[in-house]
Amino acid sequence: MSSDVVTEAARRRTFAIISHPDAGKTTLTEKLLLYAGVVQSAGAVKARGGRTAARSDWMEMERERGISVSSTVLQFPYGDCMMNLLDTPGHKDFSEDTYRVLTAVDAAVMVLDSAKGIEPQTRKLFEVCRARNTPIITFLNKQDRPGLTPLELADDIANTLDLALAPLMWPVGPSGALFGLLDTRQDVLIRADRTARGAFIGDEETLKGDDAIALAGAALGQAREECELLDLSYGGWDQEAFESGQLSAVLAGSALTNQGVRQLLDALVSIAPSPTPREQVDGAMRPLDAPFAGIVFKIQANVDPSHRDQMAFVRACSGRFERGEPLTQSSNGRVVTTKHAASVLGQERETVEEAFPGDIVALVNARNLRIGETVYAGPPVEFPPLPRFEPEVFASARPLDVSKAKQFRTGVEQLDAEGVIQALIEDGNHSRPIIATVGALQMDVFKHRMRAEYNVEVELGGNNIQVVRRTDAATAQKLREIGGIRIADRSDGALLALFENKYRLERLQRDEPSLTLKPMVDL
Ligand code: G4P
Repeated sequence: MSSDVVTEAARRRTFAIISHPDAGKTTLTEKLLLYAGVVQSAGAVKARGGRTAARSDWMEMERERGISVSSTVLQFPYGDCMMNLLDTPGHKDFSEDTYRVLTAVDAAVMVLDSAKGIEPQTRKLFEVCRARNTPIITFLNKQDRPGLTPLELADDIANTLDLALAPLMWPVGPSGALFGLLDTRQDVLIRADRTARGAFIGDEETLKGDDAIALAGAALGQAREECELLDLSYGGWDQEAFESGQLSAVLAGSALTNQGVRQLLDALVSIAPSPTPREQVDGAMRPLDAPFAGIVFKIQANVDPSHRDQMAFVRACSGRFERGEPLTQSSNGRVVTTKHAASVLGQERETVEEAFPGDIVALVNARNLRIGETVYAGPPVEFPPLPRFEPEVFASARPLDVSKAKQFRTGVEQLDAEGVIQALIEDGNHSRPIIATVGALQMDVFKHRMRAEYNVEVELGGNNIQVVRRTDAATAQKLREIGGIRIADRSDGALLALFENKYRLERLQRDEPSLTLKPMVDL
């Protein structure tokens, strides 16, 4: 059995697509499914607007705004591999959810709009990947349209992100008139026929040597030269540097016209790493063929309002998951039943019988599970908790109607457990928590979900908090004596000091360097 697990893990490619809104992530996702044979024509799984399945009100909000608040997991076979594509929300605001999805992948595809280069959201997401040394495949999208030249794009990426690059699929032809792609490792020219909006897979031809030159002429020579220049600068392809996140593989194409889509899938198979042993809290590495263990990286409640259920998304890290086998949760040693385990494609759920390292299992109705905890079979094991991020937006919350105090508390606790918000509690006062979020949109999501799912109208008030630091009991006591600094508890047991502005914090750190005041971001 254990060799099974290792073999199955080796087939897994678990990745996310990171991009700025409108760079083409949705289009590319569809095309990956088209080329993997999951859909017969693109347009069938249009993520925006096309989903008709039951949705809760907060998804309505998502539809109204034309954004994707929730993340989706897509699993599909490609060749000998099993691909797990985790969707990161594509709106420009940030949520911890987005970051956490990136903790569950083994590689990321960074999609750029070739007319725009690196945009702010791409950069933020990239930084999360870099902090974890996640390998990055860069896809220069929209090559069918005029944009920056490939070398200008390469400069932009290398300079903005301080990242070495290795071209694997390079555009041939002038900007906006993509003729084909140069496969630098095989030194062949790949040409794909266009179909209307790329709805279907067109014919593809691969040309070598004189045939390629006869067809592409000087454009091919130029592409070769550009790649040589980059290889001279960055040292060429180096699998190890790629796997440690130091070097990005660069592919180019057009998601709209299907150029380079197959090559992107092939690159994921050939260069993206499969799951590797994961570090435990005690520093030991968990072998892939140890009994099942996984990390809860996302919790979503009330997906379907008629069920009022909760789904906990678990990234499998070791062993074979078998539906029905009870697991233990690391935070309190309680048993988690896995009778209702599912894989999720958009809104559709399918019962999953088994899963292997790299796979994502959705545990339906696994109440009490918390973000970041480990679930395991057999002897106890615990992976390090997921990082919690520094909130930037703060508001004091209370129910508008005091008779709703109970629903209010339930809702706040649930959304805190899901990681939508961080509820900061002062002096045990749960009726008036401080709600902290990473971005402004999350605050809207909180209000909206409190109304839609818990029937509580929430009033949010200002509170002059700008910066939060982790502290300990001794420092908290000192801060209380100093006065003017609020202390709050978070549900994960962290003790926090809340500052009205960063100058106060800086002065305090200067005057009292022995105080424990740690930044919350701990990637
Ligand atoms: P996102 O998920 O990253 O936000 O981007 P999405 O795929 O929705 O793409 C944003 C827009 O860019 C869409 O146009 C899409 O058709 C277009 N697009 C995506 N990839 C390419 C490409 O390779 N080449 C070109 N030329 N365009 C591309 P739209 O006008 O907003 O929508 P639609 O009317 O085309 O559906």
